[in-house]
Amino acid sequence: MPPADLNALHPDIWPRGAARRDGVLTLCGVDVRDLAARFGTPVLVADEEDVRGRAREYLEAFGPDGGVFYAAKAFCSRAVLRWVHSEGLGIDVCSGGELEVALSADVDPAMITLHGNNKLPAEIERAVAAGIGHIVVDSFEEIARVAFFAAQAGTRARVLVRVTTGVEAHTHEFMATAHDDQKFGFSLASGAADEAVRRVLALPSLLFAGLHSHIGSQIFDTAGFEVAAHRVIELAARIHGEHGVHVEELDLGGGFGIAYTPDDDPPDVKSLTSSLRAIVAFQCSAVGLPIPKLTIEPGRAIVGPSTVTLYEVGTIKDVDGLRTYVSVDGGMSDNIRTALYDASYTVVLASRTSDAAPMLSRVVGRHCESGDIVVRDCYLPADLAPGDLLAVAATGAYCRSMASNYNHLTKPGVVAVRDGAASEIVRRETLDDLLRLDVG
Ligand code: LLP
Repeated sequence: MPPADLNALHPDIWPRGAARRDGVLTLCGVDVRDLAARFGTPVLVADEEDVRGRAREYLEAFGPDGGVFYAAKAFCSRAVLRWVHSEGLGIDVCSGGELEVALSADVDPAMITLHGNNKLPAEIERAVAAGIGHIVVDSFEEIARVAFFAAQAGTRARVLVRVTTGVEAHTHEFMATAHDDQKFGFSLASGAADEAVRRVLALPSLLFAGLHSHIGSQIFDTAGFEVAAHRVIELAARIHGEHGVHVEELDLGGGFGIAYTPDDDPPDVKSLTSSLRAIVAFQCSAVGLPIPKLTIEPGRAIVGPSTVTLYEVGTIKDVDGLRTYVSVDGGMSDNIRTALYDASYTVVLASRTSDAAPMLSRVVGRHCESGDIVVRDCYLPADLAPGDLLAVAATGAYCRSMASNYNHLTKPGVVAVRDGAASEIVRRETLDDLLRLDVG
């Protein structure tokens, strides 16, 4: 079914600063035609105030006793890390690269958490030297490695033990991380989690800070968090019984879903966070434990809705009786999510409005692959023409951060908009950038 109004901007899907002015999409007052002319297409345009606002909402909803860490894997650039850090969020990084961006953005090291199932020794060494707040240990080898580097540096590293709770999260298989048959964390079911805590407590250069659980991503239903919290708190009770140690911190990870299309109905921040807190409080009182400090690591929910990708239409092909293929000047190299997860997106004609009839369309990229789809099923106006600009909504998370140079396309730049002004925060790549790496 085509939407009632092809030109409408659903408020839950588009950035808060998005509006049509004289028919043209504007972002924080900036005309998309000017953005395209100045920065080229494809380009990702991020509404700074939208990001900051969502960061504040998580922090407020989570309360002063909790901590919110922005998961930088969703989108990692100095500007965005500075925005969310200046709003009071810590930063969760999952590689040495993300750690360097955070440190070079002057994020307080004490507010950085390092993740990863195979952190390189050099990354651990760097994290310990920088004095970051938490290292989340994910394997027995890593416990020994962190202990070694902390001892060598003459310090104690604060570690969280990542626990695999066996929860089957209701999301795409590749985004679920707490079922038993996958690579992350220490299994609760096998007893590995109990053993990991034992080893951490036995090593003098490690400080056992608490437990971590992340069940998956793009989750709408709090039931999975409930089961995970229940199991982790049972572990906390066993830890107290065996070692007399209270788990002081419980990090429930990220995963909070956002709306990509009008069919998506994610829970609002307040009800989500209050239900998480209530679940933990209830479980703790059931086993007679004090409530630990609760932390979360939202990535997508902070940056996802803030950003749109602008593309220019290049060719339009009517495949008789089926649909119209609209080819744009980017594709799976700037948004792999449709191909990888069968993700759905919302797209509109951005450079003008149109009263033409809706045309069943598929927005595709310019890669040499038929799976190169940006928006699988959508309606665009039948008078769409080459040179028109399309805007795809909610591309702030896991699009630029998962971008590639497939077919030697250059990665798009990222532009921040605020109060009628635009500035590039990640420069668009040039062919010279690519050729410079080709040293053969
Ligand atoms: N914390 C941990 C330990 C994580 O592994 C993740 C995401 C997050 C926090 C943040 O999750 P978020 O709030 O953003 O859902 N590439 C996929 C998503 C993979 C998420 C990986 N881990 C996608 O494009 O949907």
